[in-house]
Amino acid sequence: MTRLLAIETSCDDTCASVVEDNRILSNVISSQASFHEAFGGIVPEIASRHHIQLINGVVAAALDHAGVALDELDGIAVTRGPGLIGALLVGFTTAKSLAAANRLPLLPVDHLQGHVAANFLEPDPLEPPFCCLVASGGHTLLAGVTGHDGYELLGTTLDDAAGEAFDKAARLLDLGFPGGPAIQRAAEEGDPEAFDLPVSRPDSGRLDFSFSGLKTALAYLVRDLGPAETAARCADLSASFQRAAVDQLIDRLGAAIEDGNWNAVALGGGVAANAELRKAAADLCDEHGLDLKLVPIELCTDNAAMIAAAAIAGSLDPIPYPDYLPLDAFAEKVR
Ligand code: KG4
Ligand code: ZN
Repeated sequence: MTRLLAIETSCDDTCASVVEDNRILSNVISSQASFHEAFGGIVPEIASRHHIQLINGVVAAALDHAGVALDELDGIAVTRGPGLIGALLVGFTTAKSLAAANRLPLLPVDHLQGHVAANFLEPDPLEPPFCCLVASGGHTLLAGVTGHDGYELLGTTLDDAAGEAFDKAARLLDLGFPGGPAIQRAAEEGDPEAFDLPVSRPDSGRLDFSFSGLKTALAYLVRDLGPAETAARCADLSASFQRAAVDQLIDRLGAAIEDGNWNAVALGGGVAANAELRKAAADLCDEHGLDLKLVPIELCTDNAAMIAAAAIAGSLDPIPYPDYLPLDAFAEKVR
């Protein structure tokens, strides 16, 4: 049995979780979204400062909800990147200090591996081989998962992440932040065929994504329509943008399905909350006779349970106490 405390602070959510094998005992997420709303996006410095204020309480709540004391843990897992450096430092320093004070091993985890590993969690763990689309505000990738300890990168975005594109589109349409849910809501009343927005196919030889052309096309459209017409056609613009973004994600997912030998398809990241994407992915899986795995939204978006799952599932070498204390040796191990 392995029982871990995990900490995740790579972006704007302060997260801690206790996981025993693949069973979640607690999963605490303190979202800072409301603090960033006024700025129309996440402000890294504000995120770091809020993590500092929140992290001790969030860790205490995770241990308390799980009914687990620090001396009952086998180790502490923590996101080592990618992410906002100041935000990551808060979680990492907290994890390292707690581990050192309690003589526990430290398990530094790759954030994207965490998103993939969310699928291994109970009550409905997914067994490889499967293909996983992770689309959030910070990353967009297609992962070919054939084991528990890694994935093959089948494709990634060459510029903006899918969620970032939704956020930028929402800003152009004056819909507020975060943009994804706002665009989805506005699109409900709109015609997705009203405007012809581009679905880019990068010529990189892989299953890569590109969303910057879509964003620029929308920006030119909004400029040409002018403020009054843009406001009047907001639903159509949202629906057309959403259609182009989802079409691109589904096009690449379809190609990955045809290229590989998968039992199932999984969706992760905040954009996986998008109803059009979920529906299109379900249709695609039906066509190919594959299962579609949709983890609950709180495990799609950033959370610490997925970081614990990656640490438990992977062939990660825990760094034993006190090996992570000397800085040089430690830098070598987390590189
Ligand atoms: O995974 P997440 O909560 O945080 C990270 O970025 O790591 O993802 C947030 C992103 C935002 O860009 C947000 O606009 C997008 O996910 N998002 C959506 C929806 N809900 C959230 N995008 C499209 N449709 C949605 N319903
Ligand atoms: Zn993420």
